[in-house]
Amino acid sequence: MAGGKSRPRVAVTRRLPAPVEARMRDLFELRLNEDDRRLGRSELLALMQENDVLVPTLSDRIDADLLAGAGDRLKLIANYGAGIDHIDVAAARQRDIQVSNTPGVLTEDTADMTMALIIAVTRRLHEGFTVMQSGEWEGWSPTAFLGGRIGGRKLGILGMGRIGRAVARRAHAFGMEIHYHNRSRLRPETEAELHATWWDSLDQMLARTDVISVNVAHTPATFHLLSARRLRLLKPSAVVINTSRGEVIDENALTRMLRAGEIAGAGLDVYEHGHEANPRLRNLPNVVLLPHMGSATEEGRIEMGEKVILNIQTYANGHRPPDLVVPGTL
Ligand code: 8YV
Repeated sequence: MAGGKSRPRVAVTRRLPAPVEARMRDLFELRLNEDDRRLGRSELLALMQENDVLVPTLSDRIDADLLAGAGDRLKLIANYGAGIDHIDVAAARQRDIQVSNTPGVLTEDTADMTMALIIAVTRRLHEGFTVMQSGEWEGWSPTAFLGGRIGGRKLGILGMGRIGRAVARRAHAFGMEIHYHNRSRLRPETEAELHATWWDSLDQMLARTDVISVNVAHTPATFHLLSARRLRLLKPSAVVINTSRGEVIDENALTRMLRAGEIAGAGLDVYEHGHEANPRLRNLPNVVLLPHMGSATEEGRIEMGEKVILNIQTYANGHRPPDLVVPGTL
């Protein structure tokens, strides 16, 4: 395909926003999953044998076995999404298959949702929603639905990539104190711009902060980074927010501690086992659960599509895709 093949054959595993599909139809020999249902392994394998480019989403697990069965014509996996923990990038590279993603265009939207969850849990929004939906509100009282003041609280950001930094800017604007732990320390000028305090020790940051926001990518190194041991370091008044990947937290341990009142609350957009959230997380007054909608904006999802198109076009013209994923860099 590289070297000027003009209309690569591109298979997209889920339906994308209409403007994106229309543009793809103009540019590529397009294969769509018309009824937008999740594809099984054999269907995914067939697409990987018959096409030059596969456009998967996080609901497609592209592992070494599938990649081993891919056809010789498959040269690019242009992921629709920033996170690529569902793709074995190293195995793809061994098959000389490039992998790209769509970073940056969903940063602000995901940071907005992170802030929304911080406010929703700390100010007990969904308890208010629930009582109004039930029609059981008996009117105002001085001590009803008292939440916590956001300003002045210590926010501990786990992972200061694009989204972590965007969260820091928002939280600072809300008067929160910004603390962070990251694989590497930010440059002094970036720390100053973000008003952020570095914690080399994650354990120490967890023990001293009021709200923990998980914004680190899921990799073998970050699996259960918030383990049962680490969750026990949190203050009983602490709140845990996750808009990254569920696998970063030991969800069963978190569930146990929330039900036991050992942690004050949680706002989760992602779950350890895909869309199977631990059922014991449901109907807890101090827990807000969302269906992975962190980046769910019309604008963001169209821009993600445009990035996929640019990655494919650039590669089809014999160049390195702008969002090439290099194993071990995320
Ligand atoms: C995407 C996300 O919607 O980009 C990510 O990593 O989690 C979401 O923004 C999802 O990945 C689509 O594949």
